[in-house]
Amino acid sequence: MEKSRLIERFKNRTAYVGVVGLGYVGLPFALEAAQAGFRVLGIERNPERVAKINRGENYIDDIRDEELLEVVQKGLLKADTGYDKVPELDAIVIAVPTPLDKNLVPDLRYVRLVTEELSKRLRKGQLISLESTTYPGTTEEVMQPILEQSGLRAEEDFYLAHSPERVDPGNKRWQTKNTAKVVGGVGPRSLEVAKAFYEQIIETVVPVSSARVAEMVKVYENTFRAVNIALVNELALLCDRMGLNVWEVLDAAFTKPFGIMPFYPGPGVGGHCIPLDPHYLEWKAREYNFRTRFIGLAGEINRTMPYFVREKAWRVLNRVGKAPSRSKILVLGLAYKADISDWRESPAIEVIKLLRGDGAEVLYHDPYIPVFKEEGLDLQSVELTDDLLQSVDLVIITTPHSNVDYARVVDLARQVLDTRNATKAVPNREEKVVLL
Ligand SMILES: NC(=O)c1ccc[n+]([C@@H]2O[C@H](COP(=O)([O-])OP(=O)(O)OC[C@H]3O[C@@H](n4cnc5c(N)ncnc54)[C@H](O)[C@@H]3O)[C@@H](O)[C@H]2O)c1
Repeated sequence: MEKSRLIERFKNRTAYVGVVGLGYVGLPFALEAAQAGFRVLGIERNPERVAKINRGENYIDDIRDEELLEVVQKGLLKADTGYDKVPELDAIVIAVPTPLDKNLVPDLRYVRLVTEELSKRLRKGQLISLESTTYPGTTEEVMQPILEQSGLRAEEDFYLAHSPERVDPGNKRWQTKNTAKVVGGVGPRSLEVAKAFYEQIIETVVPVSSARVAEMVKVYENTFRAVNIALVNELALLCDRMGLNVWEVLDAAFTKPFGIMPFYPGPGVGGHCIPLDPHYLEWKAREYNFRTRFIGLAGEINRTMPYFVREKAWRVLNRVGKAPSRSKILVLGLAYKADISDWRESPAIEVIKLLRGDGAEVLYHDPYIPVFKEEGLDLQSVELTDDLLQSVDLVIITTPHSNVDYARVVDLARQVLDTRNATKAVPNREEKVVLL
């Protein structure tokens, strides 16, 4: 009875939707839900973010400012730092961070904390869906027991599901609404309810038989990328020894119309999905006395890339008789990938730290990150003036932002180490540009 009433509330939009954690994942989803006609409450621990949302101010790159303002002005989206309104909510989506600790062990403290808050206020007939990336078993083994401390039972009194978020920040083609959404429940009733919920908001919903399968889907997807990037990074290291241009090899390889998929080397991997998430699976596999060798190896290779960039920078400086400790280097791009401002786990940070450790004077330019006071660094993005470009001994391109004029950089700089092949279209670049 509760179940069909809840599904009916989803269909006729009378359901009140909660989204816990208004970050890269939570805010775009909250916006989609509001645009689908639901009244949405964002629960966010950061009071500055809450104040911004309630003023209709956007802080996530992928969201169009006017779209957010519109749903706030219509009263469809509000934010709060507290959990008092939880009993009023019909569906609650959780999109809080799932980091790793220093020893690459999953840190589920945010998921636990939120689940405890929800458990204290849980009522019959609510749907709870975890969207944070995690190892298979989290929803059932970690969340369900906490929620059942309320005295209510999953499947009978409330519904519990996992639906991994696949958003690709900066991707203009594939966004929250048109990226197929995998959904798995802790039982068939939870699946039915969660599927009905997401179908109102996302174009394509892919039901799977359990929450564990849904969790595994997401970590597999991220592992697939980590492993393939590691493979091309390893190829880049070998091509360097063999005197081959890895980019030429790859461009030719990717003309094959089947059986291959483009992945490119770079200074390392950043963001959360690729460097961190696969280790969630690696950790869980140990419980089954299983070693996920590909994950360990991919992480190892990808983490060596900043060191390779440093070594190659030394070689480039050595050609002109410059010692690293007497050189001035401009790192071009701090974000972990093009055209976004997210610097989490960005390999450019590691490159900067390594070069500074060698005594070099290191500056950075990133059109999306004007200041950087994190990770023990205190830096300001410098302007790309003619004087600056001419005065540095080396420019290292670490992020291929599309709003940088690479022809000008190559023209003015003395030497360029391009770790992303961002200068591909610059004519006669061979004189000054060294590729990864
Ligand atoms: N960013 C991506 O590209 C991406 C893509 C797919 C999946 N994911 C996964 O989605 C999850 C969220 O990632 P994100 O990138 O949106 O993180 P984020 O850091 O951008 O956002 C998380 C938000 O949750 C808030 N928060 C933390 N603890 C809270 C609490 N106890 N109560 C309320 N709010 C709380 C934070 O203040 C922050 O605003 C992670 O598991 C991540 O791995 C991220």
